[in-house]
Amino acid sequence: MKPSKQRLDQLLTSLGYASRSESKKLIADGIVTVLGQCVTKPDFKAFHHDVAFQGEPLDPREGIVILMHKPLGFVCSHDEGEGKLVYSLLPQRWQKRDPKISTIGRLDKETSGLLLLTDDGQFLHRLTSPKYHVPKLYKATLDRPLKGNEADIFASGTLMLNGEKSPCLPAKLTIIDEIHVTLEITEGRYHQVRRMFAAVGNHVTTLHRSRIGDLTLGDLKAGEYRIILEDELFPSSEGLTRGSIPTTKLDSRLRGNDE
Ligand code: URA
Repeated sequence: MKPSKQRLDQLLTSLGYASRSESKKLIADGIVTVLGQCVTKPDFKAFHHDVAFQGEPLDPREGIVILMHKPLGFVCSHDEGEGKLVYSLLPQRWQKRDPKISTIGRLDKETSGLLLLTDDGQFLHRLTSPKYHVPKLYKATLDRPLKGNEADIFASGTLMLNGEKSPCLPAKLTIIDEIHVTLEITEGRYHQVRRMFAAVGNHVTTLHRSRIGDLTLGDLKAGEYRIILEDELFPSSEGLTRGSIPTTKLDSRLRGNDE
């Protein structure tokens, strides 16, 4: 996105620092600097990267991508009625940003692991669209020992889930021991991993997502998150940005090395 100048009060409001009227007041009180100089006019226009709030650079502007280690017991929803929201783990002001930060796909309440969030609608669409088969790796614990035919069934591309019109795309099962497995899938159907095991007569007791494309959790503990830098998704040497990246490149970058 080409940088353009924006009114100071608009900048603060869109990044969730304060409401429009509060922002005007805070700016008039001298809380904002532009290139190190205090500016008290709310309608003053400046580049995002030149502005500081209480001496600190502003949060990243629109296009933020966050990698979170989702803990168990949190829901991927904006609806407070559904339980503890993953958004409540983010700083308060990030929850007030406009455009809104949303999860890229969902993990169940009782699934932990790698979750991506963004306020970039186009990016969100590309990553969740079934057209782009981004691999996701899950570690599961099963209730009952494997029978032995599950890897072949999952790889076959013929497994039908209850209520679905088309079979699951081929998925790769790696057996750790008789009740511990990893499963790599390239779709994001509702409760897909749990339903795949249910379809072969088993039950998933714990589920954790450890990888999406080339992205892993690294040292992040449950509940922690970090902003992903553009060049982690798209190496800067290619001079590409999320907005300009051709979809085929985006697709292969996230697809990982194993295809
Ligand atoms: N499959 C599931 O069953 N649950 C998740 O949260 C993700 C994939």
